[in-house]
Amino acid sequence: MNKKSKILSTTINRNTSTLMDDFNSSIDIDKRLIEEDIAVTSAHVKALTKLKIISKKEALTIQKGLISILNDHKKGKLKFSKKNEDIHMNVESFLYEKIGEVANKIHTGRSRNDQVATDTRLWTIKASKNLKNEIKKLMRSILDQAQTNEKTIIPGFTHLQVAQPISLAHHLIAYLEMFKRDLDYFDFCKEKTDENVLGSAALAGSNYNLDLNLLNKNLNFTKSKNNSMDGVSDRDFCIYFLHASSLTATHLSKLSSELVIWSSNFMKLFNISNQYSTGSSIMPQKRNPDSLELIRAKTNTIRIKSLEFSNIISNLPLTYFKDFQEDKRIIFDCYDELLSCLKVMQDVIKKSNFEQSVGRDINNNYYATATDLADYLVIEKKITFRDSYKIIADIVSYAQQHNKNLSEIKIDEYQKFQKVIDKNIYKYVDVDKSLSRKKTSMSTNPKEVSRMIKKYLKFLNVK
Ligand code: ARG
Repeated sequence: MNKKSKILSTTINRNTSTLMDDFNSSIDIDKRLIEEDIAVTSAHVKALTKLKIISKKEALTIQKGLISILNDHKKGKLKFSKKNEDIHMNVESFLYEKIGEVANKIHTGRSRNDQVATDTRLWTIKASKNLKNEIKKLMRSILDQAQTNEKTIIPGFTHLQVAQPISLAHHLIAYLEMFKRDLDYFDFCKEKTDENVLGSAALAGSNYNLDLNLLNKNLNFTKSKNNSMDGVSDRDFCIYFLHASSLTATHLSKLSSELVIWSSNFMKLFNISNQYSTGSSIMPQKRNPDSLELIRAKTNTIRIKSLEFSNIISNLPLTYFKDFQEDKRIIFDCYDELLSCLKVMQDVIKKSNFEQSVGRDINNNYYATATDLADYLVIEKKITFRDSYKIIADIVSYAQQHNKNLSEIKIDEYQKFQKVIDKNIYKYVDVDKSLSRKKTSMSTNPKEVSRMIKKYLKFLNVK
């Protein structure tokens, strides 16, 4: 007996055209779910064995067959067929080739609808975990630079205009906060994905009293779905995954964009590693931050995925439609792109260095302590802030006209604008002192920055 033809003749694709087989097939994409699919089948077989639908002896044969398929897969020996449509039918067919008739029992009391939803949930939980690990690695390289640059002073910008002096570490910690929120989002995603669909069968529930606790225990789910119809059609967990990825992508693109600007000849705040920049084919002097520009572009494609996905699932009545088959391509692409962006960003940050002295000059040349001067008049001379603001604005225009920075203005020049000004004003001109003057816990005050560094060292388990 030809085992192969037997399984094919009893399955779903008897009369389809080759064109349709090609169009209908998802195996090129969902073969990636093979480990999850085998785990799901293995758990289901245990539940069927408990119900005596499958004997213990048969179960042993099936489990051995499944392990052997997994081994073939690891050795790259499996030949997937489009005629068998998807990963579920391919695995069943491989099993039939290996163990014969007993394989025909595995699909009792379940459907591909609950199978695919469960496989995809398991994959999403694994993918979220991997992405979290990569985010943590990125956070470690950022934290490392924050430690190296705890005392590096740079300008803080608003509207990309020099605003106030800050420490580079403070700036970098802002990214740790963003990526920390991404970790939390992936945790939320995991929590929502952690629901077992098995037992829902095609849509109405299974005719067999499958032991749901056994299924959950075997597949590491903490609970089962409450409603079988929701079970087979719920793809919200994919949306959470795509949203979490999209937010991480947004943070990555903010960071790339910033570092591209910082590495420009005009700022020179960031020296990108030669390993992550490329030369020009014609201009020998150039180093272009291509890695960062590519991250910036690729993160856009990641952000679009959640829209693409919600377009597929919107307007679909309950329950399963073949439209769902298109969902996996989107989450897989999103994962692959995000993973590579995270890995590249980790290494860019690790191997590049920040310029440690330019920032102080930029602050001085662009009057970054003007707010401190305005506060000097409020704190020491009891002038109202609005009046003080005007006086300092006039002083800054004067300094610009005379091509001076604030420390080059003599005390008698200052006093022409307001006679109460005394030498204490120079303490407020000083860029380093500006940082220590900050009073609030979230500020760039070196003490607060050092506290935050310690907090993240602990959070990221850095020894
Ligand atoms: N390959 C299908 C998918 O990915 C599996 C489920 C098929 N179910 C069905 N009723 N045709 O969605």
